[in-house]
Amino acid sequence: MPQYAKDQPAGFANTIERVAIVGAGGTIGSHIVKALLETGRHTVTAISRKGSDNKLPEGVQIAPVNYDDAATIVAALKGQQFLIITMAPTAPRDTHSKLVQAAAKAGIPYVMPNGYAGDIENVKIGEDMMLGPIAQAQRDEIESLGMQWITVCCGFWFDYSLAGGESRFGFDFDKRTLTVFDDGNTKNSTSTLSQVGRAVAKVLSLKELPEDENDKTLTLASYFNKGVYIKSFVISQNDMFESVKRVTGTTDADWTVTHEDTKKRYAEGLAQVKTGNMAGFSKLLFARGFYPDDPSDLSAKAQNELLGLPDESLDESTQVAIDLVKELQLRVERMAS
Ligand SMILES: NC(=O)c1ccc[n+]([C@@H]2O[C@H](COP(=O)([O-])OP(=O)(O)OC[C@H]3O[C@@H](n4cnc5c(N)ncnc54)[C@H](OP(=O)(O)O)[C@@H]3O)[C@@H](O)[C@H]2O)c1
Repeated sequence: MPQYAKDQPAGFANTIERVAIVGAGGTIGSHIVKALLETGRHTVTAISRKGSDNKLPEGVQIAPVNYDDAATIVAALKGQQFLIITMAPTAPRDTHSKLVQAAAKAGIPYVMPNGYAGDIENVKIGEDMMLGPIAQAQRDEIESLGMQWITVCCGFWFDYSLAGGESRFGFDFDKRTLTVFDDGNTKNSTSTLSQVGRAVAKVLSLKELPEDENDKTLTLASYFNKGVYIKSFVISQNDMFESVKRVTGTTDADWTVTHEDTKKRYAEGLAQVKTGNMAGFSKLLFARGFYPDDPSDLSAKAQNELLGLPDESLDESTQVAIDLVKELQLRVERMAS
């Protein structure tokens, strides 16, 4: 049943003010927090493990939790209107479920689950990438507990994936090598970390509910149990290479370029994962994303204009990626997964 502001109890503000976020100091969470705080409309609370040494952004309130003690998570989430989960892929698998169950107990109506990936409606690619069924189960759990989810469909993170080593977009900036998948012309829709942050802040700054049945404006409710589709660049590896050469002032002669077949690369990554070697995971994930006959491209559904997201400069984003290389190299365990 659609909900309307006119039917809510007196004092209903029709805005999302109190936002809790898991991973406030993490790769994507830090960008989401920055964008939320910049709106000046939200109080942001970091749900963070007690004793975590992750640096949390200034301006957030901190609610320490112990994932082995459900009561601490419920207490941390009490009074919040929206829970954003950006959880490390290395976290134990049941942590997401613990959070969602605690959110239901705390009375939180809306959850943004872990995801931040491709098109949730492309079931086949989700299965091939192995992440689709997991994310589907996480969304199902939220619904089964009587809450609504809003997930972000952004494709690969452009700057992170360019910076993140050979197993992602094929670039190794230290060795100046590039592994080109097939002929390097397959395009993917990608989003920068900052574009994802802005999109989340835009959606959470919408009116929570339509005023009444005649109100057709975009609201948070427009996204209940749906994806927010966004993009920065629809781009091939060859396009990226041109940008990298411009930004670094290098030429073809400075780079060693090799070619690999995406289907062979996918099979190799899968074989590694099956033997418990998770280094194969990003290899299979990105190889699958670049299949020439079925690439990861959600750009036809992107809602950038609807959300008022800016166009970005490719070369500036490439520079951001290059600046990120060393930082990601320090996160050895995280980047190996
Ligand atoms: N589209 C893409 O290209 C792409 C790429 C990578 C990831 N992703 C998606 O984005 C999600 C978030 O990734 P991220 O890189 O932002 O995460 P991250 O920075 O690695 O970690 C986020 C937070 O998870 C918490 N955490 C870490 N280890 C944990 C553990 N063992 N138990 C419980 N909590 C733990 C930490 O928060 P505290 O220390 O504050 O507790 C950390 O700040 C991924 O799971 C994946 O779904 C998408």
